[in-house]
Amino acid sequence: MWKIQLSLRQRSKPSSKKYISSESQYQKAPEIAFDGIPETEWKQLLLSVFKHSIRLLKPGGLIAVFTDWRRLEKMASLMAQAGLPPKGVVVWDKTAGSRPVKGGFNLQTEFILWGRKGSGAPELYAHGVITPATLTKRQHLTQKPVKVIEHLLKVVPKGGKILDPFAGVATTGVACLKNGYSFTSVEVVPEYFEIGCRRLKELENN
Ligand SMILES: C[S@@+](CC[C@H](N)C(=O)[O-])C[C@H]1O[C@@H](n2cnc3c(N)ncnc32)[C@H](O)[C@@H]1O
Repeated sequence: MWKIQLSLRQRSKPSSKKYISSESQYQKAPEIAFDGIPETEWKQLLLSVFKHSIRLLKPGGLIAVFTDWRRLEKMASLMAQAGLPPKGVVVWDKTAGSRPVKGGFNLQTEFILWGRKGSGAPELYAHGVITPATLTKRQHLTQKPVKVIEHLLKVVPKGGKILDPFAGVATTGVACLKNGYSFTSVEVVPEYFEIGCRRLKELENN
C-alpha cells in the first residue's frame, strides 16, 4: 500500500454526522478526508484522479465509481470529461444498511458507474444489481462489504491489477487478496490506513 499525505480541508458537515443515523453508533470514527469540500474543489480532485486512473488503465480495463443518487449525473459527466464516459450503472441494494427517511423511502441504493477503456472487453458477465450484503464489523463510516467489491471483480480477469485511490479500510484490497488479484490502495487518513493494513495482514496470516 502507498501512503500519501495531503492537508485536510474545511468541511461543511462532519462525516460522522452525515453517514450514521444515531449518535451512539460509531461515534469516534475519524473524519473522511475531503468530505464536504466545496463543489468546485470536489470536481477538480475527482477529475484529476479519474484522468490519472484512466491513464494507468490498460486497454479493455474497467473503471468503477461509487456514488449516491445525488451525484450520479455529476459523476457520470466527470468520467466523460476525464475521457471515459460510463457504459452503465450497477445498483447496490443495501437493504439492512439503509437509512430511513421520514415520510419517504429508505435511502437503500448506491450506484456504481462503470466504463471500459477502448476495446478488448473480456468474455465475462455479471448481474447489474448487487443483492444485499451487510457488514459484519464496521470500521469506517462508508465501508463497503467485501461481497460488493467481489461482485465488481466478476468482470475482471483473474490475476488483474486493481487500483483503489480512495481505499478507506482497504475493502478492495481484502477482496483482491481473497480472489487472486493484485492491488494498490491509497488512503490519506492514517487511522484508516492502519486499519486497512491490519485487515490485509490478518488475511495473509490466515
Ligand atoms: C468512500 S471512502 C472508501 C471506503 C472504502 N471503500 C472501504 O470500504 O473502506 C473514501 C476514502 O477516501 C479517502 N480519501 C479522500 N480523499 C483522498 C485523497 N485525496 N487521497 C487519498 N485518500 C482520500 C477518505 O479518507 C476515505 O477513507
